Amino acid sequence: MENLTNVVSQVKKNLQKVSDLEKLEELTIRYLGRHGLINETLQKIKEIDPGKRREFGQKINAVKEEINKLFLIKKNQLIKNDEALTDFDNTLPGRPYPKGSLHMISYATEEISAIFSKIGFIRMTYPEIEREYFSFDSLNMPPDHPGRDDFETFFLKAQKDPQLGKMILSPHTSSGQVREMWRVGTPPIRMISIGKCYRPNWDTTHTPMFHQFESLCVDRSINITHLKGTIDYFVKQYFGEDREARLRPHHFQFTEPSFEVDITCGVCHGRGDGVKCRVCKSGWLELAGAGMVHPNVLKHGKINANEYNGWAFAFGIERLLMVRGGLKNMRDLYTGDIRFLEQF
Ligand code: PHE
Repeated sequence: MENLTNVVSQVKKNLQKVSDLEKLEELTIRYLGRHGLINETLQKIKEIDPGKRREFGQKINAVKEEINKLFLIKKNQLIKNDEALTDFDNTLPGRPYPKGSLHMISYATEEISAIFSKIGFIRMTYPEIEREYFSFDSLNMPPDHPGRDDFETFFLKAQKDPQLGKMILSPHTSSGQVREMWRVGTPPIRMISIGKCYRPNWDTTHTPMFHQFESLCVDRSINITHLKGTIDYFVKQYFGEDREARLRPHHFQFTEPSFEVDITCGVCHGRGDGVKCRVCKSGWLELAGAGMVHPNVLKHGKINANEYNGWAFAFGIERLLMVRGGLKNMRDLYTGDIRFLEQF
């Protein structure tokens, strides 16, 4: 109790002698450390009359706070002096840290997921290592379909499953369609699935591994306008309000009717003919495959095709990046050249 009253002035005196941060640290420990004066004094609380303990405790705390303040002020002073001595110029810009960034594909994946989650589509991922059944048979593709040749699809050396066929690398995200129907059981289904696909190709617009995102919608009374509306929504969100999409008749085994999806060229704005556009030639760029889910596919998905119907489409993600601009050679994405990747 006695020495407490002097402590503050004692500290003040001692602090005057301190000229560097190291000494300050020593002094701090002497007063405020675990075995410092304050704590030591606090221990003595047990020895005094219980009636006076409260007052004693309050006094110590007040002193402690006061000392703390003094140390802090001194510390700031010393730091300031230090900076003045070392010519520290706090107006200079700092040295930038090297910054990591997401790969373009990851970025696109996040962007697309966000666009579709706004309209209630949930995101799924389905196996890259697949069985023929999900990639072909359940999608109404007969055993002699050219897509099942080994120059179109990678086959793995693995045991053939009596029901599900050979093991392959999934050549499209459509392999997830029947899997999703099995998972959900009773529609409605509103799914997008973004994943890696594999086909034996390698040139400026094809890599043996690439990404697609698939969308599947199954419900009662679904028709082509729902498909077109969803594609329009996506195209305008992803490419901008000024872009138009169109459906062009096509053929897929697993959709009927089937379409290819084109969007207006961003360079000539769809003028095409008459204007020689070096990007598109016709005013439109091909972007995706789409169609109304074939009843046989619903049957494989254990869904009553008289009660329910739906649509599906799939976009190539690398293709989206190329059409939006910024990516000229698809192989750049996967050669791991940091100088290219750093730009995004
Ligand atoms: N799976 C097709 C492809 O990879 C695209 C597609 C998906 C077509 C869904 C129709 C419906 O080319």
